[in-house]
This record gives sequence, C-alpha cells and structure tokens, in this order.
Amino acid sequence: MAKLRLGVLASGRGSNLQAIIDNIEAGKLDAEVKVVICDKPAAFALERAKNHGILGKYVNPRDYAGKAEYEQAVVQSLKENQVELVVLAGYMRLVRNVLLEAFPDRVMNIHPALLPSFPGAHGQRDAVNYGVRFSGCTVHFVDGGMDTGPIVLQAVVPVTQDDDEDSLAARILKEEHKLYSRAIQLYAEGRLKVEGRKVRISD
Ligand code: GRF
Repeated sequence: MAKLRLGVLASGRGSNLQAIIDNIEAGKLDAEVKVVICDKPAAFALERAKNHGILGKYVNPRDYAGKAEYEQAVVQSLKENQVELVVLAGYMRLVRNVLLEAFPDRVMNIHPALLPSFPGAHGQRDAVNYGVRFSGCTVHFVDGGMDTGPIVLQAVVPVTQDDDEDSLAARILKEEHKLYSRAIQLYAEGRLKVEGRKVRISD
C-alpha cells in the first residue's frame, strides 16, 4: 500500500510531530512526512525534521504582502511535495481559505481539550480554571473557525484537584501522542468520511 504523504505545519516544540515520526518509524503508521513547514525560525520542530532526514522549511510570514500570500507560499510547498494530508501540530495560526480550498477536508488539527469546550490557545489552563473533572484532547478536521471543525477522535483525561495547567497539559500530551497517529492511520486507510459536522468512521 502506498504511504500517505503528510505535510506537517508547526510553530514550536514539535512533540506531536515527533510522535508521528516515531510511529511511522516503528511501522505503526502507514505514512511518510514529506515536509515540515514552520512559521518560526527557532521552532524545535525543524530540528526534529532534520534529525530524521525530513525536509524542513521556514516560511516567514513577514516576507509576504499579506496572510493570503503567505498561505499561498505554504500551499505551494505542500503541493511541490505531493502532500495528501496536512497535519497541524502546534501551528499557532488560524488557517484560512487559501489552504482550506487547496486541501478540502484534508487538514487535521489536534487540540488539548474536549472540544467544543475550551477552544483557543489555553485549552489546558481554561479547563483547570473552570474546574472540570475530565478534559482530554480532540483531533478534528479544520474548517474556517477556531477549533470548530468536524471531530475525528477524542481521548478523555481526568483532572485532579491538585492539577495546574502544566500537570494537566503533560497528562493530556501523552494521549495526544497516541491519538493523532490513530486518526492519521484511519485517514490513511480511507476510513474517514466527513458528513456535515460529523465524521463517519467505517470498519
Ligand atoms: C499541543 O498541546 C497541541 O494539542 C496544541 O499545541 C501543542 C503543541 O505541542 N495544538 P507540540 O508542539 O506538538 O509539542
């Protein structure tokens, strides 16, 4: 079976990227990372790509006249590398139409909360402050909103009375590292179908 060609967009640490690479190398994920694109030159994700012989690219948003032009450059790089599925892994930008139209229902994201609760940049902190007993992580297809697209998979994580943002984030992150690869593998097997707000998973 041909391997699913991934393009990963990241802004920072890249631990989800690392988990994807590790699962691929362990033969648990039928995919290959064709390119890692970062909007920050110091993103550790670029280092991780390099360590595994994967093409890493820094695309500086400031080099472009506007957000659409920047995103067009990202799309061009994804297309040049024959990417089939775009994987957002700690990519701290709202994805816009240029990318979504180039990859319809082919952009995935992972969020560190049980959506639709606690969208945005501080999912773990917001969950702790709200006092929920459970949080978790969500893999979803990306639409034009902030963490609003059709949900692929979720994993539940307990929140303890003594949790702070960091302890909860660490517990959630462990689950993220498993969940993202599971969702990508389902996609690779052709088992995901977006039907309106819902994602159907076939057997
Ligand atoms: C993760 O918590 C992810 O859910 C969120 O950003 C964080 C990225 O972490 N979207 P990393 O860069 O993959 O380590």
